[in-house]
Amino acid sequence: MKVLVTGGLGFIGSHTVVELQNKGYEVVIIDNLSNATLNVLDGIEKITGIRPEFEKLDLRDKEKVIDFFNRHKNIEGIIHFAASKAVNESVNKPLLYYENNLNTLIFILQQMAERSLQNFIFSSSCTVYGEPDELPITEQAPVKPALSPYGNTKQIGEEIIRDNTKAHNIKSIALRYFNPIGAHPSGYIGELPRGVPQNLVPFVTQTAIGIREQLQIFGNDYDTPDGTAIRDYIHVVDLAKSHVVALERLMNNNNKKAYEVFNIGTGQGSSVMEVVKSFEKINNVKLNYKIVGRREGDVPAIWADTSLAEKELGWKAELTLDDALRDAWKWEKNIRDAKNFK
Ligand code: WQD
Repeated sequence: MKVLVTGGLGFIGSHTVVELQNKGYEVVIIDNLSNATLNVLDGIEKITGIRPEFEKLDLRDKEKVIDFFNRHKNIEGIIHFAASKAVNESVNKPLLYYENNLNTLIFILQQMAERSLQNFIFSSSCTVYGEPDELPITEQAPVKPALSPYGNTKQIGEEIIRDNTKAHNIKSIALRYFNPIGAHPSGYIGELPRGVPQNLVPFVTQTAIGIREQLQIFGNDYDTPDGTAIRDYIHVVDLAKSHVVALERLMNNNNKKAYEVFNIGTGQGSSVMEVVKSFEKINNVKLNYKIVGRREGDVPAIWADTSLAEKELGWKAELTLDDALRDAWKWEKNIRDAKNFK
């Protein structure tokens, strides 16, 4: 049972590779290293004792992708992470995002149809919901106009997969992630943002370790209990496990429809201030932060109704916000200690 993981050296991809290997699957990774480094392979091997097969490949290079599939005949399933994912970069470079995220998705699906590959897991995002009308948000909530080209590529991606599933016999599941945070408890793999982190938790850990001077909290005048925005922060290991469960649903033909969508979150909302205070408490560190104005495009509050994933996938997040913040801090300290990473 060989599973192809595209973007498998990325933050969520690498953690998913670990969980696939833990369940005995043989994994082959395609990654173009645009947002990952090769020592992620070392980290995976340190955790599982198995170095996954890896090919440096850009999915836009059609010749090389066709050659890859010609050489790998026994792929049972594909988990597709490879995509550009920085929200504000997508505003400045929309065509890069539409080309990279959508053309490569279409090409992968074409290759699957030509080779009768059937099981496809798509990395989607709660960003497709925009600003929710009611909370917690279910999969039946309306998809609203995207707040960024990145979010739009996830919306369009879901529609392409849905329509493709009708035309070809490719069973597909889209997992709508809420906010992935944390790192593997071993401290060997985690989030490696390039440049200034856009996301909250890596900015928190880099501020705590002294790389960043001060955390800016974007707004405390939202209509929430403490005024700061609320998100559903899910430990990346729980998120990784949901991919294995979803793939097995398809490989065992337990899916109820050819195309299914699941919210993958904890079902629990946490404010920015709650994250900051939990981080300080659980790691016994003091964070230098300042409240500033709201960030353009932020929604005040969103968290998941995860009952469908619980019922249909038998999956539920088990790790807490504190677990994720503890693991994120351990990882940050590890990567700054050069001896661990050649
Ligand atoms: C979380 C909260 C910020 C940084 C994005 C994408 C989503 C997914 C996850 C890819 C917000 C606040 C943040 C900072 C802050 N990415 N914040 N200071 O925006 O909910 O979701 O990342 O799939 O698709 O949209 O995550 O971590 O950027 O922000 O106060 O320095 O933290 O305002 O309220 P977001 P985030």
